[in-house]
Amino acid sequence: MQQLMEKFTAHFGVAPAVAAQAPGRLEVLGNHTDYNEGFVLSCAVGQTTKFVLAPVSGTCCRVMDFREGKEMSFDLAALDEKPPRNGSKYIIGMLNELRKRGFKPFAFNAGLESSVPLSAGMSSSAALEVACGLAFTEYAGFAIDRAELARAGQGVENNFLGLKTGLLDQFSSLFGKKDSIIMSDFRSVEVLGTHALPAGYVFVVINSMKKHTLVDSDYNVRREDCENAARILAGIYPGSRTLRDITPEQLLAAKQHLSNREFCRACHVTGECDRVKKAAGLLAAGDVRGFGELLFDSHDSSISNFENSTAELDILVDIARHDEACLGARLSGGGFGGITIHLVKADDAADYAARVKAEYFKRTGIEAEVFICSLGDGASIVK
Ligand code: GLA
Repeated sequence: MQQLMEKFTAHFGVAPAVAAQAPGRLEVLGNHTDYNEGFVLSCAVGQTTKFVLAPVSGTCCRVMDFREGKEMSFDLAALDEKPPRNGSKYIIGMLNELRKRGFKPFAFNAGLESSVPLSAGMSSSAALEVACGLAFTEYAGFAIDRAELARAGQGVENNFLGLKTGLLDQFSSLFGKKDSIIMSDFRSVEVLGTHALPAGYVFVVINSMKKHTLVDSDYNVRREDCENAARILAGIYPGSRTLRDITPEQLLAAKQHLSNREFCRACHVTGECDRVKKAAGLLAAGDVRGFGELLFDSHDSSISNFENSTAELDILVDIARHDEACLGARLSGGGFGGITIHLVKADDAADYAARVKAEYFKRTGIEAEVFICSLGDGASIVK
């Protein structure tokens, strides 16, 4: 942070008045359950986005992105216009969402730096939303609780950018805990408990480096499928509202009322909620092998039920299955490309990553990006 502050001061000629940082996240288990009001195991990672600002007079805001050495600017009068193509869209979106909640936008110069890899599936956009949201509200003394700040970040995606994502990314960035996996409930919107990653194990993240071009619309269609299934099931099981309320057994019993597609999508979500609860028990009992198996099961369900995997993701998980050092692996995040996470013995992580990278290259011709992740704390203001 010190470095960013110095760069900011050199660039703008004044020191920043407030500094915030927010981490990226990994979805550990519980795929596409968040917008179904279900359960997720996730963690914040050590990679963070840092955002500092100083207020200025007038209405023009400048944001210096020190990653690329590029400056972006926008006017407060234009907050409602179409989102720009650069990263300032997350910042403008956040000002919009905060304004809806009573916050009064002010003009500023800002500096930004990040170690969260871009478009890798570690929620670099949520990290930026959360970091700037924290900085704005802290500077203005605007009271907002963390869950509501997460919702504001989700609002940026849903209302400003047209992506109907759930709350997972912003929530994990705000509520992550060092060295812990958090188990969250997306109906009550709270952390139910934390689990240490079994001693001696780490998550290795391997980016397939390939994404479908229609990821956003694929995502929105999956969400619609889930909501349609939930509506039909609510007619059969009074009192149920979302797929979170349906057990895998109830779903099976109602199979004939759903289209095959709706049934499969619902299978994935109800199965994932079930696996998250089982996984929490296994982690509490220290059963790291059992936990790992559930990661593989989750990926299988992505392939056959949710159809949000890709050939490349499947190759990475297949390599994992045939390597003894790995206890479990799956796609993580929205899917349709992006990253896989691999549960691996810490001592073996670097060798494992190199082995998978080499084998993946042999099978696809693609150079995968690899990160050995530490589990970090949630977002904070840096004094
Ligand atoms: C993306 C979304 C999240 C969540 C995951 C899938 O990361 O942003 O809200 O739905 O996909 O679990």
